[in-house]
Amino acid sequence: MTDAPEFHDRMLSLGLARVSEAAALASARLIGRGDEKAADQAAVDAMRTQLNQLEIQGVVVIGEGERDEAPMLYIGEEVGAGVGPEVDIALDPLEGTTLTAKDMPNALAVIAMGPRGSMLHAPDTYMDKLAIGPGFRTGVVTMDMSPAERVSALAAAKGCSTEDITVCVLERPRHEEMIAEIRTTGAAIRLITDGDVAGVIHCAEPQTGIDMYMGSGGAPEGVLAAAALKCMGGQMYGKLVFRNDDEKARAAKAGITNLDRVYTRDDMVTNDVIFAATGVTDGSILPGIKREPDMLTAETILMRSKTGSVRRMTYKNPIK
Ligand code: FBP
Repeated sequence: MTDAPEFHDRMLSLGLARVSEAAALASARLIGRGDEKAADQAAVDAMRTQLNQLEIQGVVVIGEGERDEAPMLYIGEEVGAGVGPEVDIALDPLEGTTLTAKDMPNALAVIAMGPRGSMLHAPDTYMDKLAIGPGFRTGVVTMDMSPAERVSALAAAKGCSTEDITVCVLERPRHEEMIAEIRTTGAAIRLITDGDVAGVIHCAEPQTGIDMYMGSGGAPEGVLAAAALKCMGGQMYGKLVFRNDDEKARAAKAGITNLDRVYTRDDMVTNDVIFAATGVTDGSILPGIKREPDMLTAETILMRSKTGSVRRMTYKNPIK
């Protein structure tokens, strides 16, 4: 039994926005400096400091890595002020370390929070991902379908030609075959060099022009993307990909027994969730941090699955 107060998503949401803002602002000083590690470290430090001010009893379930690999915000780390509701935290203080180091678009600081036990403890492996936006019947596209079948099924559901479908894919050699197959349908492909949390979110944001996301990327990023889609609407599926026994052992350590399971969005995030992301570099979802001589500006998207509310916030902080 616990006497901890219930997870009050409305009360906690503004605090969560501050956490992603702090991480984005800290890493922004390292945009374009060619130092991925330093940019990530700045985001981690700032996110952790801000997170520890929240009145929560938090546990990091998606974090910077295993305890022996990541000194801070590691999986299992207790965060928060130690009072308040017991919550699970999924975070990526800098989603797009390379994007930041090279000053390329779509780097984000990302965090999601839900009641304790509500998020999949995804191991640090790859996950095969498939996502579409809201408004379609469940299962209109599935993991069992080939990439071309998915494009045809989505086009039929939208009542358009396959040539009117745009698929977002991470540009990687491992995706060459999939890309070639998608091309046979005539669909357009938006290739991204990094940042598949944003890639998935794109499906639920009509202005991006992206209809579907597919391909493999980090499993932790998969859970973060599922949290975002749970707030925005849309379907997502994920299947863990294991390249060796060490990765299987990571899954076992995370309590995963069925290695072939296809997780739906709601299997990955089983309860109400709050999601916050702040732009680091300019992107299609959010503008990045703006640094003027006397002012810092950060843009954050803050969403709650309980209400489906999406709030966009601008934070201006005079530089003293
Ligand atoms: P980092 O910011 O941690 O480097 O992740 C960037 C990213 O592009 C993720 O968005 C994606 O899930 C993953 O890397 C893909 O991994 P890989 O670069 O090994 O294909």
